[in-house]
Amino acid sequence: MMRFFALVLMLGCALVQGVGASEGETGGASSLTKVSDLYPNDMGPAEIDVSSYPNELKQNYKVFKFKCAACHTIARPINSQFLELSQDEQKKEKAANPELFKDKKLAHVEDKIWNRYVKRMMTKPGCPVKGEDGKKIWEFLAYDSKVRKTGANAKSWIAHRKKLLADFKKSNHEAYEKLFGDEEDHKEGKHE
Ligand code: HEC
Repeated sequence: MMRFFALVLMLGCALVQGVGASEGETGGASSLTKVSDLYPNDMGPAEIDVSSYPNELKQNYKVFKFKCAACHTIARPINSQFLELSQDEQKKEKAANPELFKDKKLAHVEDKIWNRYVKRMMTKPGCPVKGEDGKKIWEFLAYDSKVRKTGANAKSWIAHRKKLLADFKKSNHEAYEKLFGDEEDHKEGKHE
């Protein structure tokens, strides 16, 4: 039953997204493929071990896992570079793990970043995340990003993202260029 519901949601999203994306654009075929475009994140694990998380967040994890999988797999947010830290937390983390602040492709540290990102997803046509669920998902992702990406886990997080990006660059070169190409040209001062 859950599976069926998820499938209906997915189809609904794909349809609404497709229609939305093709409006006012001429490149029909390519805009229709938007939702299935890949990210390096998509190649990573699609679950989190939340056994040590507070009970309330364990509940929020269930909401997140179900609702945020409507258009792309849940691996996309799970392996995301986004790391939500307040200004104070950033100061402390910078002293302990400066490598988290060197490359936004590995860790993108910003105050309220998950809050903004969940809202952005909620504005997408057909998104099943509404009201309170948005807050629950945000709280979960903010907490989870601290647990898995900072402190004693910072180094393994950086290594995990590096591997995802390297594998993705190899197997999906075109998609990699589309996502990160400009940035790298810019860094190296190329103007092709
Ligand atoms: C209605 C379809 C839809 C739903 C539902 C949805 N997403 Fe997305 N998501 C997208 C699309 C399309 C993209 C590609 C980037 C863009 O268009 O913003 C994306 C990209 C992402 C990315 C990659 C961003 C980056 O730049 O690295 C993350 C992380 C993400 N979504 C998280 C979530 C979370 C968390 C939820 C649940 C609150 C969610 N998504 C629900 C459609 C959706």
